[in-house]
Amino acid sequence: MAFVRISGLSSEAGKNVTVRGWVTTVRSSGKVAFLVLRDGTGLLQCVVVKTAVSPELWERFAQLTLETSIAVSGEVRADARAPGGFELGVSDLTIIGASPLDYPIQPKEHGIDFLLDHRHLWLRSPRQRAIASIRNELEQAIHDFFYERQFLRVDTPILTAAIGERSGLFSTEYFDEGNAYLAQTGQLYGEAAAAAWGKIYTFGPTFRAEKSKTRRHLTEFWMIEPEVAWNDSNDNMVLQEELVSYLVRRTLSNRRAELVELERDLSKLESIKPPFVRLDYGEAIDLLRRKGSTTTWGEDLGAEDESLIVAEYDKPVFVMNYPKEAKAFYMKENPADPRTVLCDDLLAPEGYGEIIGGSQREDDYEKLRQRIVDERLDLASYEWYLDLRRYGTFVHAGFGIGLERTIAWICGLPHLREAIAFPRMMHRLKP
Ligand code: 4AD
Ligand code: MG
Repeated sequence: MAFVRISGLSSEAGKNVTVRGWVTTVRSSGKVAFLVLRDGTGLLQCVVVKTAVSPELWERFAQLTLETSIAVSGEVRADARAPGGFELGVSDLTIIGASPLDYPIQPKEHGIDFLLDHRHLWLRSPRQRAIASIRNELEQAIHDFFYERQFLRVDTPILTAAIGERSGLFSTEYFDEGNAYLAQTGQLYGEAAAAAWGKIYTFGPTFRAEKSKTRRHLTEFWMIEPEVAWNDSNDNMVLQEELVSYLVRRTLSNRRAELVELERDLSKLESIKPPFVRLDYGEAIDLLRRKGSTTTWGEDLGAEDESLIVAEYDKPVFVMNYPKEAKAFYMKENPADPRTVLCDDLLAPEGYGEIIGGSQREDDYEKLRQRIVDERLDLASYEWYLDLRRYGTFVHAGFGIGLERTIAWICGLPHLREAIAFPRMMHRLKP
């Protein structure tokens, strides 16, 4: 009998097939027993009628426990009430791997630490599958978006010698070369690639030894960083708007069932269309002070500030042109106000905070060199980066979109830890 995945059952109606998977529920009336099987592609209700099978099979069925792996054979029948629209009339059952009664995750409330300690098993829940499918959809959508626009994907190194951002660094000894740092960003390499190939993006893991235990910080997260030759700050924001609107639209059209599984308010996502709101940093500070925040001009915005700002709108908000001292060394000085730089943070609605950080890059050799010196960075490690301004400098801009923050917002997750299969946080390195 042919092995079939649950997602492929629609073309098997009326046929006899074998399905393999894990037991998620069992119940019996004494005459008819029901089992719901999970194989990762869907759920399948399996029905056993006592009088239709051997006493020995009925007995085996009665002993099934949560998460036992089995193979069940029988006839596929269309049934509108069953999950997925089909059920299996069981004629045979093989137990592949027993699952003792102490399976840790039971149908009851578990604390978050317990669930995270059992993340390897927690992934089996419908909620975690829904999140993983949306993550997968978004990853694919990001590749499609850039591919259609003729961007080249560049894989940048994870072991690096130079620092890209101000946040904490993980370092490790690297033979005779001194310390290597786990990449906080692929951007500096992305800029070299943009000078070579025009329009590029990176898609990779990034690492930040942040001692913050917030719901928005992971120590290892995935970031996508486009970098475009000849784009200025405004072009950069238009690209961000297009990407983010596309990602939301695509999830709504391809992963609606998963959004419903997560009880996401779809109307909130349906209003995500360009143009997004644009606020100058100064305007954002005025708005914040009217709302009682104590943040003053010159400071970066905190999570609470971001929530206060987005509460005014039902679309993402760009906060543009921050003071120099609040941002990284590579951002271009704003000709209209040299106290500031040409940059933007994109804040997601509903209090999800910054999902993108972007900027036009400093293309003036002297100014960039001075910023590196002022920030007390090791100039020698940045000589190659300065070469991009020595040899044919060019206007260019790019941004980094945090994958887990985007997933958390689109899925409506309260914390980033569920947006990745095995989250890494300050106090979590296992499993
Ligand atoms: O704003 P950030 O630090 O910008 C950069 O790294 C630039 N090099 C990007 C660029 O211009 N190419 O980080 C970009 C995004 C943030 O907006 C956020 O979504 C995400 O990366 N991010 C984190 N996500 C999870 N955990 C953390 N600790 C994060 N830090 C940043
Ligand atoms: Mg940022």
